[in-house]
Amino acid sequence: MGIVSKQTAESLQRTAAIYDRVKNVIPPMEWAAFADDVDAILRLKKTRNAVILAHNYMRPEIFHGVADICGDSLALAREAVDVKADVIVMAGVHFMAETAKLLNPTRTVLIPDTQAGCSLAESVTANDVRLLRQQYPGVPIVTYVNTSAAVKAESDICCTSGNAVKIVQSLGVDRVIMLPDEYLAQNVQNDLIALGSKIQIITYKGHCEVHERFSPNDITLFRQQNPGVVVLAHPECPPDVVAASDYAGSTKGMIDWVDAHKPARVVLLTECSMSDNVAASRPETNFVRPCQLCPHMKRITLANIRASLETLTHEVTIPDAITAQARRAVERMIAVR
Ligand code: 13P
Ligand code: SF4
Repeated sequence: MGIVSKQTAESLQRTAAIYDRVKNVIPPMEWAAFADDVDAILRLKKTRNAVILAHNYMRPEIFHGVADICGDSLALAREAVDVKADVIVMAGVHFMAETAKLLNPTRTVLIPDTQAGCSLAESVTANDVRLLRQQYPGVPIVTYVNTSAAVKAESDICCTSGNAVKIVQSLGVDRVIMLPDEYLAQNVQNDLIALGSKIQIITYKGHCEVHERFSPNDITLFRQQNPGVVVLAHPECPPDVVAASDYAGSTKGMIDWVDAHKPARVVLLTECSMSDNVAASRPETNFVRPCQLCPHMKRITLANIRASLETLTHEVTIPDAITAQARRAVERMIAVR
């Protein structure tokens, strides 16, 4: 490593145990650039009595370096309920911070970059949901957590990619509206058919800009170029991609699959940081790394997490008029086991 300042040398020393966890995926030179921020964030968490919740798509220096609780959207929502700290920093996108605030209204919830959005959350408004209710009277509306609090408030219940089939089945009806992710809804419909269920899903037109880019052709190429590779896909991918994969599941589902099956070689059809985060502690598996970057998730950096804790910005607030109804939709989801 080149010459570093006295302060960075001290930060490197204090963060050495953390670096050990990510040394397979972050070169020493790069860690030297992160060490001061990691060290400062660890200190700030104590002085602010703060916890950092991080989605599986955060970069490894955040995921392994400073996060207290990591997981998929469902785990982050569940964990948010039990947080006792005064401050929650959401290392994820805006709808995740809103969900944490809904479940923990008395805590200060911060998002390090207010522009960290989501193409799915952008694709539907509260008014769109009201129009659907008029169009399909009496049909329950299941809303993906990747939506604004205002949209959740108009919904009957939320779901994530990790529990969508269970949530739809829990309603005990023969028709549901699922929004906004068209592909997730189609994949859930296919799962229900495979289970022998007659429930019909009315879909919407939203897509994840990251997962919609994968195609069955990509899978053919991965298999040709990497003989024996196992292909795991996220259910936000188009149904023909899911059909050509060996398994489809939420980000946690994919991690669990890798742990249960210990494949020699795997490709995760999802956001880029997933493979880095999972690979860091699973050197026995070779992760083939073609992936798609989520520009919204990548807005969250060590530097803006540090700034967020230093200045207690940007605080997430939800109008009183929608809080109770939106929380009800999320709590109904969490209650389904
Ligand atoms: P999960 O982590 O719930 O699978 O969600 C993936 C995603 O795209 C979140 O934005
Ligand atoms: Fe939204 Fe897709 Fe990015 Fe997740 S990966 S935040 S669903 S755009």
